[in-house]
Amino acid sequence: MNEEIYKKIEKEIEEIKFQAENESKNIKSNEKLEQWRIKYLGRKGLILSFTNKIGTLPEDLKPVVGQKINEVKNGLTLLYKEKKKEIIDPLLIKKEKYTDPVYTYPGKTPNEPRLHPITIITRRMVDIFKKMGFGVHTGPEIETDYYNFSALNTPENHPARDMWDTFYLDYKKGILLRTHTSPVQIRIMEKLKPPFRIIAVGKCFRRDAFDSSHSPVFHQMEGLMVGSDINFSHLKGVLIYFLKKFFGADIQVRFLPAYFPFTEPSAEISISCVICNGKGCSTCGGSGWLEILGAGMVHPEVFKNIASKNSLYSSDKISGFAFGMGIERIAMLKYGIDDIRYFYDNDIRFISQFI
Ligand code: FA5
Repeated sequence: MNEEIYKKIEKEIEEIKFQAENESKNIKSNEKLEQWRIKYLGRKGLILSFTNKIGTLPEDLKPVVGQKINEVKNGLTLLYKEKKKEIIDPLLIKKEKYTDPVYTYPGKTPNEPRLHPITIITRRMVDIFKKMGFGVHTGPEIETDYYNFSALNTPENHPARDMWDTFYLDYKKGILLRTHTSPVQIRIMEKLKPPFRIIAVGKCFRRDAFDSSHSPVFHQMEGLMVGSDINFSHLKGVLIYFLKKFFGADIQVRFLPAYFPFTEPSAEISISCVICNGKGCSTCGGSGWLEILGAGMVHPEVFKNIASKNSLYSSDKISGFAFGMGIERIAMLKYGIDDIRYFYDNDIRFISQFI
């Protein structure tokens, strides 16, 4: 084999290859890439010009030179293809080169955020009252004996205290976890000038054992409307409007006499069973009615307690109504849930199914 001639041709081919690779590094557009392709790989390009020379070579050199040309041509063709992809999608080339998980793992869809059913129900209830002009207030969960009981006409040793089995934080100092949202009534009256109408939503705590309808921690909504001529028909009007808006216009509402130390007269309010439409089923214990809330006209003794701090409440003309309802119980009726404990288990399959 004519070594010298081969070395010379090989060197020339390598130089063209080196030049082509170098030039390709700065190519950023399709147009430039096409010019590059024509210059090196085109029919009249630098690489093929060698192929045309093969015929003039000595017989023994023809296959080796042909092989060398092919090798360089294939290398540059590959480079051309990669460059083409890089220009179309710069990320694509990285994806093929590296096994970076960012590009190769299937996407993970995050859980869609959902509201807890108690939050959904609370917001709906609040919206209805807001439309009736009620302001929204809150009060502390840690209360004093005075606000939770005494100011609400339930002084020490009053038998009605047995209605609310209490968690005391400091029994001697009378510091406790509120058993209902009614202490907010007192705090609001101490602060606001009548007339007004407000609601307050929040957590309540009782030494009640867990069962299908009781929890030691639950939520209530309190309502209070005070003015100079508020009477029982206002109470009925507001509550019937709320219940029909919330549960549907077809439900029946029933008022029965009841007892609460801080309201007189007091009422226990039920709606026709939403499960059996009043026919009688296991949810309503066969009665056709479901008790939903307690309410009544604010007791004169309560106004007297406020008047000792805020004289605006000493007038004989001041009157008002109040109500309190358990939010979990309302949510259970609305969604047809038969056990209150589902709300607190935080099982995503349960809490994410409500809208
Ligand atoms: C009261 O708490 C009164 N403060 C309501 C009131 C306010 C009456 C204003 C008059 C004027 P009662 O103890 O009945 O009342 O509770 C009201 C509602 O809270 C009940 O109807 C029930 O829905 C809910 N509830 C009471 N205890 C629990 C409990 N352990 N778990 C879940 N819900 C409860």
